Amino acid sequence: MTKKLIVANWKMNGTSEKVENDLNVYGANQITNSPNVVLALPNLYLHHASNLNANFKIASQDVSQFLGYGAYTGEISSRMLLDFKVKYAIIGHSERRQNLDESDILLAKKLENTLNSGIIPIFCIGEEQSVRDSGKYMEFLLAQLGLLTRLNAGIEELIIAYEPVWAVGTGKVPTGEQIAEIVELINSFVQKTLPRAKILVLYGGSVTAKNIAEILQVADIAGVLVGGASLRVDEFTAICAHA
Ligand code: 13P
Repeated sequence: MTKKLIVANWKMNGTSEKVENDLNVYGANQITNSPNVVLALPNLYLHHASNLNANFKIASQDVSQFLGYGAYTGEISSRMLLDFKVKYAIIGHSERRQNLDESDILLAKKLENTLNSGIIPIFCIGEEQSVRDSGKYMEFLLAQLGLLTRLNAGIEELIIAYEPVWAVGTGKVPTGEQIAEIVELINSFVQKTLPRAKILVLYGGSVTAKNIAEILQVADIAGVLVGGASLRVDEFTAICAHA
């Protein structure tokens, strides 16, 4: 079995007690304490995670559009994240695109900041149910991917996560063929437009310990992005057996 990248997206969850407990458990378990396991924590808890010096990697769930340091109240820059050994940053999650109106212009700045500072973006794309139903989802996803060709930053390494909005938090999972169709779309886009970049493709949306094995059978899938199931230690540990 090839090793897969398992990324947990905790979203806006966790108390200091649960975070401390879960991180200690993950750090002490060989299955989860792997460099192929990535925990995207709320920023408040990154310090604790980086202090553990564990083998698992840490990610932020967002990054500021602004660089370095300065008068940007409430913002956390990529440089500050690097200070806490953050290796990856989720950018363009559908929840932020929808709830915070994140536009392509904003996402481009966030991607540029992370790429230019050496943090690997986990760039999320995905269509809503209505777009899937319209049959125009390939065009929609290509338009989201198109942003990657308009950046003022070289792309050496990048992760693209296909997260259909209709599968996020719904318990609905696309079929293997549906996922494979999009993985192929992403890979051919990348070959044409970013041939020198090292790009991994993940799937996200209602991944559980039960369906992970089937999802990972899809050709060329490099791993998964896990939301709800990553909050349950036993279930997430089972998922990480694939890391
Ligand atoms: P769920 O696994 O809860 O569907 O969330 C997926 C997700 O949004 C990961 O980024």
